[in-house]
Amino acid sequence: GRNPLIQGRFDGSPDSVMTAINASIDMDLRFWAEDIAGSKAHARMLAKQGIIAADSAEKILAGLDTIAGELAAGTFKTDPALEDIHMHVEARLAQLIGPEAGLLHTARSRNDQVATDFRLWVRNAIDRLDAELAAFMAALLDQAEAHAATVMPGFTHLQTAQPVTLGHHLMAYVQMTARDRGRLADARRRLNESPLGAAALAGTGFAIDRHATAADLGFDRPMANAMDAVSDRDFALELLSALAIAGGHLSRLAEEMVLWASAPFSFITLSERFSTGSSIMPQKRNPDAAELVRAKTGRLFGSLQALLVAMKGLPLAYSKDMQEDKPPVFEAVDAFALAIAAMTGQVRDLRVNPARMRQEAGRGYSTATDLADWLVREAGLTFREAHHVTGRVVRLAEAEGLDSLADLDLAALQGVDARIGPAVFDVLSVEASVASRQSLGGTAPERVREAAAAARAAWL
Ligand code: ARG
Repeated sequence: GRNPLIQGRFDGSPDSVMTAINASIDMDLRFWAEDIAGSKAHARMLAKQGIIAADSAEKILAGLDTIAGELAAGTFKTDPALEDIHMHVEARLAQLIGPEAGLLHTARSRNDQVATDFRLWVRNAIDRLDAELAAFMAALLDQAEAHAATVMPGFTHLQTAQPVTLGHHLMAYVQMTARDRGRLADARRRLNESPLGAAALAGTGFAIDRHATAADLGFDRPMANAMDAVSDRDFALELLSALAIAGGHLSRLAEEMVLWASAPFSFITLSERFSTGSSIMPQKRNPDAAELVRAKTGRLFGSLQALLVAMKGLPLAYSKDMQEDKPPVFEAVDAFALAIAAMTGQVRDLRVNPARMRQEAGRGYSTATDLADWLVREAGLTFREAHHVTGRVVRLAEAEGLDSLADLDLAALQGVDARIGPAVFDVLSVEASVASRQSLGGTAPERVREAAAAARAAWL
């Protein structure tokens, strides 16, 4: 059948396919609480402005509370003919309190209503996800402090580059997470304006008070332009963008964990709580949680893409295309919530194999830069000259089948360049290398501990 609340200008029933493609009630149930809150704020304002009678408003508010109870309990009956949450609530209100239910939609449209509901929902989602990101950050900081002096190889091109500490590596993710939280905070600040009272697109002739409903719903102010208020979903796009970027960060750490847990690396041991077995290979412990974080990130990117495309060709103001704004946002928020929780758990459970990390940190001539720097500092070479000399030393070590420059003897070094003296061995160990990187943001353990303390003070 046809939606009884808006059937006046129709004679026949819609096609069943029309009803099916039009109905959003199943997904709308996720924001029923925001819908009820918006309606209550609107009803209170209408009464305060003398647009509806105070006793009618009382009945409406009581009815809305009853409906909220039914929705919370899961006993609320839905019907696709009633399309969306807004119509369902109004229809149920009419059953509960009679014709006065029809007063509620005065000076309001579903267009400003849904824009309001969705902003409130996204705002709540941001607050929840920020708390999750803070917990992730805390887990990273705990491990970074515990491993401020745990030496590991640092890579560029996934080739051994220079020794670093695990704490330094994890602090890189702390900084990324801080920016991820900053992006969410920026999005929240911009979204926190109220569309309510924009009505369909033009505003309303009723003497409403948009400041009152905005304040009631915790918005900073009403949105300035009624057409903009019902037409844009940039607030949802900002959330999706922020989650896509943050997900990209999680995915990189997940990838590193997969790599580090592999037998050739053996840098970490996977937590039993975040790994699974194989159906055929009895020995296996697989990093499924990390792998799924990597894959969930694809959904985040897809959700952003879906909404960008849905919005890009729409003439102002509202078009029904915009009803499709919610599934990608819900999917992204759900995927991100799982991904961030899985990463927090894995970081908390991280079991490190410092001996393996230390061993690999010394391989691949990782202290070659330290030798070049020493030649500059102690022997007066230009850096380019020192780079060349060190390159010759690396070739020599390679030819002798040695893995580390520290394994060459002094005579061999002096054979390459007579200016090399015995003090050079002070800088060729991985510990010396790491300890020397004292510059701001460097990997020296003191710098890592300072950075961790600063991040705690700023973000936790
Ligand atoms: N269910 C709709 C949505 O989510 C509500 C707005 C409907 N507005 C309209 N003019 N049909 O977008």
